[in-house]
Amino acid sequence: MISDRMNNPFVDFNEKSSFLTGNLSDLGGSFIPESLPHREEQILQMAKLLGSLMRNGRPSNIVVYGRTGTGKTSTTRHVMRMLTDATNGYVRICYINCQINDSQYSVLVTLVNLFSADSEENIPLSGWPLDRIYSELVSRIKRSSRPLLLVLDEIDRMIAKSGSDSLYVILKLGDDVDGLSCSIIGITNDTSFSERLDSRVRSRLNQESMLLPPYNASELKDILSYRTKGILREGSLEESALNLCAAIAAREHGDARKALDLLRVAIDITIRNSSLVITDKEVIAARERLEIDILRETVKSLPLHTQIVLLSCVVTQEVTRRPSFTGEISRNYSEICQELGNSPLSNRRVSDLISDLDDIGLISTRIQSMGRNGRSKLIQLEENGDQLKKYLMEVDSLSSFVGAGLGKQSRLNLGNDNDPAN
Ligand SMILES: Nc1ncnc2c1ncn2[C@@H]1O[C@H](COP(=O)(O)OP(=O)(O)OP(=O)(O)O)[C@@H](O)[C@H]1O
Ligand SMILES: [Mg+2]
Repeated sequence: MISDRMNNPFVDFNEKSSFLTGNLSDLGGSFIPESLPHREEQILQMAKLLGSLMRNGRPSNIVVYGRTGTGKTSTTRHVMRMLTDATNGYVRICYINCQINDSQYSVLVTLVNLFSADSEENIPLSGWPLDRIYSELVSRIKRSSRPLLLVLDEIDRMIAKSGSDSLYVILKLGDDVDGLSCSIIGITNDTSFSERLDSRVRSRLNQESMLLPPYNASELKDILSYRTKGILREGSLEESALNLCAAIAAREHGDARKALDLLRVAIDITIRNSSLVITDKEVIAARERLEIDILRETVKSLPLHTQIVLLSCVVTQEVTRRPSFTGEISRNYSEICQELGNSPLSNRRVSDLISDLDDIGLISTRIQSMGRNGRSKLIQLEENGDQLKKYLMEVDSLSSFVGAGLGKQSRLNLGNDNDPAN
């Protein structure tokens, strides 16, 4: 056993972080706190809507709307916890996240398996026809003879994958379980979600709706103070650093997750720097780190040909130092494909991929009139080119790219200034 504690970096690291009095992971996404400051009103509203469950009634279905990080999941789970307490677990609450179970099939299979009694086998994730799964579910719900409350989080994902009809089948459950109460709470951050439902599904699902507004800076400050109690020793978080986290997250649509992430990363940076107080400096560094991580993830998750088009945008602008024309990007794209051994897509598809990159904000495009020569599309990077290139080079299938002369003005396909837009 190594006994030299003095030179053990883990011991050192632990001692340096002595301003932590609790678990940093409690600031993470899956932790549901005891209470939710500034959501008291919404908690009461949801409890009232579900109140009839206490009198053996059937509550209306509810859709919970709100932008990301406004506490939809936490508020709903908090109310479910209270309902379980109040009914001693009598109401059967099933929570399904449709980001994971995004098809009607997997939602139904998951539900059936949540209803498995001790002696019952789980049904397989594939192989059973839908009608058999449905009738198995109906008989299991009947056998449980308890009211069911089904929470479908990120419900828009299921609609996107399986269509509005998929929900109709689930909503129909209530008719087929012999008078047992069976209601649904759908959660979504897509405000146009209900417009995409067909009218019979919309009227059944959207019987009640709740909107969780974005948090303002002062509410986010309260939330952060509350969440850091028991985690940070008093005096280790400067007031101005707390205000800065809250202000940044308030600007980003009042997102509590963003505020908590910023603070968590700022704490991590403070520990690594062997400091004992979290100041504005660490919050600013945390913001940079989070932004960089998002950019890297975005670049890495693009489809291969979109990455090659982006690489073409980067290297073209690197040489010309001005916005590029679609024709220049397309031709350099083809050269890069050739170098990497990929067959290039048509100019039309490249044009679509340029629009995709514009949609996600990595580049911006504008149409410029070229006088008698018509109109031309100009493309400009919206992010730092060196950074983009660095992340693109981290992608396995692009890492062998050297530019084989592409970097030289002579080899680079620079179109004429009046290169028409595709
Ligand atoms: N009022 C609050 N008090 C304390 N923590 C909160 C509060 N609201 C949200 N949080 C925390 O912020 C994070 C994001 O909240 P939550 O996951 O509930 O948001 P959401 O609206 O479901 O977001 P998304 O649409 O991205 O799923 C969670 O860690 C949650 O615990
Ligand atoms: Mg959520």
